[in-house]
Amino acid sequence: MCSIIGYYGKKNAAPIIVKGLKRMEYRGYDSVGVATESNNQIELKKGIGKVNEVNSKIQLDSLPGKIGIGHTRWATHGKVTDFNAHPHPSNSGKIAIVHNGIIENFEELKKQLQDEGYNFKSETDSEIIANLIQKYYELTGDVKETILKTVSEIKGHYAFVAMFENGQLAAARFHEPLIIGVGQDDFFLSSDVLGFIEYTDNAIYLENGNFVILEENKFQILDYNGEHVKYGITKISKEFGDAYKGDYAHFTLKEIYEQHETILKAGEKTQEAIEKTADYIKHAKNIYVTGSGTSYNAALIAKQIFSKYAKIKAEPIMASELQFSPDSIEENSIIIAVSQSGESADVLDAVKIGKQANCKIIAIVNLLTSSLAREADIVIGMNCGPEIGVAATKSFTSQLVILYKIVQKLSDNTITINFEKFAETILKILENPKKIQEIAKQMKEISDIYVLGRGINYPIAKEAALKLKELTYIHAEGIPGGELKHGPLALMDSNVFVIIINPNDSTYLDTLTSAREIKARGAKIIGVSDIESDVYDYWIEMPKIDQVLYPISEIIPIQFLSYYAALEKDTDPDYPRNLAKSVTVK
Ligand code: BG6
Repeated sequence: MCSIIGYYGKKNAAPIIVKGLKRMEYRGYDSVGVATESNNQIELKKGIGKVNEVNSKIQLDSLPGKIGIGHTRWATHGKVTDFNAHPHPSNSGKIAIVHNGIIENFEELKKQLQDEGYNFKSETDSEIIANLIQKYYELTGDVKETILKTVSEIKGHYAFVAMFENGQLAAARFHEPLIIGVGQDDFFLSSDVLGFIEYTDNAIYLENGNFVILEENKFQILDYNGEHVKYGITKISKEFGDAYKGDYAHFTLKEIYEQHETILKAGEKTQEAIEKTADYIKHAKNIYVTGSGTSYNAALIAKQIFSKYAKIKAEPIMASELQFSPDSIEENSIIIAVSQSGESADVLDAVKIGKQANCKIIAIVNLLTSSLAREADIVIGMNCGPEIGVAATKSFTSQLVILYKIVQKLSDNTITINFEKFAETILKILENPKKIQEIAKQMKEISDIYVLGRGINYPIAKEAALKLKELTYIHAEGIPGGELKHGPLALMDSNVFVIIINPNDSTYLDTLTSAREIKARGAKIIGVSDIESDVYDYWIEMPKIDQVLYPISEIIPIQFLSYYAALEKDTDPDYPRNLAKSVTVK
């Protein structure tokens, strides 16, 4: 997934575009580029690397002109090269485009255009948009007709912005996010409100299959039949703008430290939605919980706590897999879709399948203006503020708190949870990561690490392994304790580290036995527990708390461990290689 941006106004476009791209960098950071229009000429600069790196090398923000477009790339088609970086000029150089998404029929269209004499400098699917637009603009001389013809030919999920040498901008969206920012006397086009939130909080969310043309200081929004469409301006909460690191070295560290507050704020503004959700679930035949990545691990926890505390069966579904067994969803069921960004393509696809089966969609989401929030019947806001670090941290614990709040309602409050008291306990964990830093030093050279947990601690073991993968690039695997002897024990020797998630609950003794069996093979053991044991080479002491809340607390030291191990391994904790904050392509 990439970030795209456009500016049309009276100020110098390039510095505004570079700032917007910097804010959206979590969407993709393989390469960056800017193009502006100045005196009916298109000026373009692009390069490999992150925004600040490339800008300091080739001064992207010095391009002249009051109109421009920009892009940060998360490579899908073609290697990370200058040629594959966006913006892509058309053959004539009179049009330039930036694109997010995937053009599924690009090879066919490329062949057609090559047969018509067009040539291509990149391996990307995106470049065909530039030449298609040139073809139809030369044919019609009209931007509206040009876009209508172009979108009638391209297939896939996309959003693009095209800039013409006469300064007109045109942008279209089909399943990929695109938002118009309406300023005092200027306009913005962006994949995310973060792209322009510094300048205006007036946003228009372009609907699917709509496009916008900006010219002569005004804009018009049309659908793919060329009809004008009505639109509304949404006021964005400025809170989403305060994505600053403050004194923290990285967003990821800041977001780990924010959890004693975000745990209290989770679902706070949508309490009513939580009650309504519990009511829906009480009357539903089937409940499914779906998500991707960390959000899927939250779905696995949902299964455990729904059955344990509310005696309700909730089936977790990996969003990306549902398309291969759509009939596994029973009609008229409830689907709880969990997603920080609300833009993960696999989750939106799963929701589409659910809607086709007439299911009610309940979204647990952080971005209340996201596509998922707009698709859902009920929206529960995670309310944890912007999460910039690509590896999800505070969003995970907020998702779990909301799931617990739903279970509390479902259990007619037979389980009582004092979140205020719990937040104080979290503060204790956050206060002193020194010991964890020491352990992270021992992990500098290792290449394999396993995380073991039983029962409700197994999904946490999976989430722990995901954090280690995302932040340290170490091969990490979450293992259900009971499966150890059925295979993974073969991997245990003195070269591996094993993290044992072992709180004082019903799994404690069995997990300790597993730890002994692993120790016997020479592996190093990191014990995460509120009880010390001589089995552990390293003990990460957990505070004694109500065991109901173990899953939420025990992931936090692992977030720290992954962060500090990332520093030891000199990886970038905020922007891990090859990843993106939410993946809007399938
Ligand atoms: C990945 C992120 O791209 O998407 C993960 O790197 C995240 O951290 C996953 O868990 C799912 O994202 P979301 O926004 O749907 O929760």
